[in-house]
Amino acid sequence: MYNERVIDHFTNPRNVGEMPEADIVGESGSFKCGDTMKIYLKIEKERISEVKFQTFGCGAAIASSSMLTEMVKGKTLEEAQQVTNEDVALELGGLPPLKMHCSNLAADALRDAITKYRKNTKTGSA
Ligand code: FES
Repeated sequence: MYNERVIDHFTNPRNVGEMPEADIVGESGSFKCGDTMKIYLKIEKERISEVKFQTFGCGAAIASSSMLTEMVKGKTLEEAQQVTNEDVALELGGLPPLKMHCSNLAADALRDAITKYRKNTKTGSA
């Protein structure tokens, strides 16, 4: 059902874990299955310098989270914001159609983090 790349990111996820010193934490959840994700970002001069994640979800969700963290590390917030769940699925070599919604968790959590960060920096609290 999953290709080798997906299985690799699922069984050996990159950047997994908590980041207590994160500048911002983004969260997402799937209405379809109830799975959730948290993404932790360290941001230096509008650039993502470190990223970690915790995903309580299926194999496709974990693989997507892992791949997304690899894709956005080192990117500016502007660039990272452009990354869609389709981009993540493509980078993984594709996901089964029934599992495409799982890739939304990662993209949504990232967008949540960036939105919160922008809000906080606007009000001067980050
Ligand atoms: Fe819930 Fe995949 S089934 S994220």
